[in-house]
Amino acid sequence: MTILHIDSSISGENSASRAISRSIVDQLRGTGDQVTQRDLVAEPLPHLTLDAFADTSVLDEFLAADTVVIGAPMYNFTLPTQLKAWLDRILIAGKTFRYTESGPEGLAGGKRVVIALARGGFYDAGSPAAALEHLETYLRGVFGFIGIVPEFVAADGLAIGPEQRETSVRQALGETVRLAA
Ligand SMILES: Cc1cc2nc3c(=O)[nH]c(=O)nc-3n(C[C@H](O)[C@H](O)[C@H](O)COP(=O)(O)O)c2cc1C
Repeated sequence: MTILHIDSSISGENSASRAISRSIVDQLRGTGDQVTQRDLVAEPLPHLTLDAFADTSVLDEFLAADTVVIGAPMYNFTLPTQLKAWLDRILIAGKTFRYTESGPEGLAGGKRVVIALARGGFYDAGSPAAALEHLETYLRGVFGFIGIVPEFVAADGLAIGPEQRETSVRQALGETVRLAA
């Protein structure tokens, strides 16, 4: 099995999403599995241009992976622009989706995508900030569009205080153990 491990937090070793995505990979990887790492902060992809469509290496890497693990922190209520630049190279008509007479059709099904979310606040349905949640909802939408139902492991309330952060990250790391089952 090939696992593609992607991170997009700017916070290096202090990053919760990086710690959780690492734990997900540790849980999912089996003997002999190949893990490809793409750190979108250490090696950022440029903003999309028309010329960039000629280079399909990022798309090919995604298509070759059986499992994709993504560390996705919430910045300004949505995903880091580094991760958006990666998605801009993945959502390609004719490759990962196509338009048919009966509507759009995802072409990338059959892949497992597991996403480690890290958010400073709480965005549960019915909470005051719920309408500002454009990270999980966006990622669920775009992966759904290409035929994948992503799984999420979330650590929330990380900016509320050190105790909440510790509890949320510990719970999320605990949840990653269940993914291998
Ligand atoms: C530039 C920046 C913007 C942020 N914007 C938000 C936000 O809009 N909503 C929120 O809940 N938390 C926000 N946070 C808090 C992060 O989501 C939180 O620190 C989380 O731990 C980031 O993931 P990381 O630890 O993997 O870097 C922001 C943090 C940074 C650095």
